[in-house]
Amino acid sequence: MRYFTRPDLAEQIAIQLQGQAVFGDAHNGLFLAAPRRTGKSMFLQHDLRPALATRGCLVIYIDLWSDQRRDPGDLIAEGIAQALADNLGVVARAARKARVESVTIAGTFRIDASKIGKVDGATLPAALEALHRASGKPVALLIDEAQHALTSEAGEVAMAALKSARDQMNRPEQIALMLVMSGSDRDKLLRLVNSNKAPFYGSSIHQMPTLGKRYVEHVAALIAEQRPELAPVDHQTLLDAFQLFGERPQFFHAAIGEALNPLEADQGERFERRVLARAMARREQDAAQMRADFLGLRPLERAVLWRVLEVGRNFRPYDGEALAFYRAQCPGLAITAPKVQAALESLRDRTPSLVWKSARGEYSAHDAAMHAWFSGLVAEGGWPPSDG
Ligand SMILES: Nc1ncnc2c1ncn2[C@@H]1O[C@H](COP(=O)(O)OP(=O)(O)OP(=O)(O)O)[C@@H](O)[C@H]1O
Ligand SMILES: [Mg+2]
Repeated sequence: MRYFTRPDLAEQIAIQLQGQAVFGDAHNGLFLAAPRRTGKSMFLQHDLRPALATRGCLVIYIDLWSDQRRDPGDLIAEGIAQALADNLGVVARAARKARVESVTIAGTFRIDASKIGKVDGATLPAALEALHRASGKPVALLIDEAQHALTSEAGEVAMAALKSARDQMNRPEQIALMLVMSGSDRDKLLRLVNSNKAPFYGSSIHQMPTLGKRYVEHVAALIAEQRPELAPVDHQTLLDAFQLFGERPQFFHAAIGEALNPLEADQGERFERRVLARAMARREQDAAQMRADFLGLRPLERAVLWRVLEVGRNFRPYDGEALAFYRAQCPGLAITAPKVQAALESLRDRTPSLVWKSARGEYSAHDAAMHAWFSGLVAEGGWPPSDG
């Protein structure tokens, strides 16, 4: 399927980042949240990145989920070091050859020659400044799955260093460092901005627009082009299906592919209806999977996950109220803090993991979809799911 570009959206965001919008706070860092598989990473890389590059920025994209075994702090440092090496390669090689300890960039700025290619929390602001001076361009740092930084101390340090770099480099009339942080979970991203101690205290989280109706129109046009015998394509049914798929293009594409497959028995039914039927089935499958995951847990794990889902950000695993809740859910079981801790660990260690924990000991469901599933069932009186 051809990539659907959103140049207007990218352009608007670029303007805001450069501090050229009359209102807004994006020049202090832009936080974008959207559910999983809705096209965040693609947008950052294939729309926003070129839009910023066209406007003369040096863009660095770092995905903190690119390797889950690596410390997010190291991934951030490495991404910046790589850009520095790319841009200062000649300078750095010359410096190493001449065995000088520091190199001077753009006439005034000095950076320790050994630090090029080796960046950490302490040197991160200097490295970004050097990059800016050496390239003569504003630097735009796009950090994908930014909430993951909060799961390690090095990651937290890196975030604080980025904030400090932003404050040192940016002036009202000239933005030299732009920060874009994206993630699939609004609640987790919030932890970067919502407390006094949070590195980006005061910034707000924006919902990244999903692909929406225009994307469905683009897909419908492609189908009409490739299979003229199917025109006119029923846009509304396709849009309904796309929304049922949670606006996740991957599932939508697969369903269309199957519905258009000539080997599928067609029985006179329009392909749009078959796509819609698949979307409904998918929704039920997702719910059934979450239900099975939940019911497969031990009683205390279930109670802990329930509590996480119910109180969200206010979850405190061991406070009196939480313990009373677990006891009420697990009659006959002696509930102690170590047992709760073991239950939490096992919820985190499962594959896929069900609970997320920050370096500061804050918790939330790993997949935001689980919160939606929970509230849906609560709203219709279907919670908790029963084994029967
Ligand atoms: N603009 C688009 N046009 C066509 N297909 C797209 C577009 N954006 C995303 N997709 C499809 O959706 C899939 C998911 O996109 P992407 O990886 O960007 O989502 P994400 O929100 O970053 O997901 P995750 O939460 O897993 O990181 C891609 O593999 C691609 O097939
Ligand atoms: Mg992604």
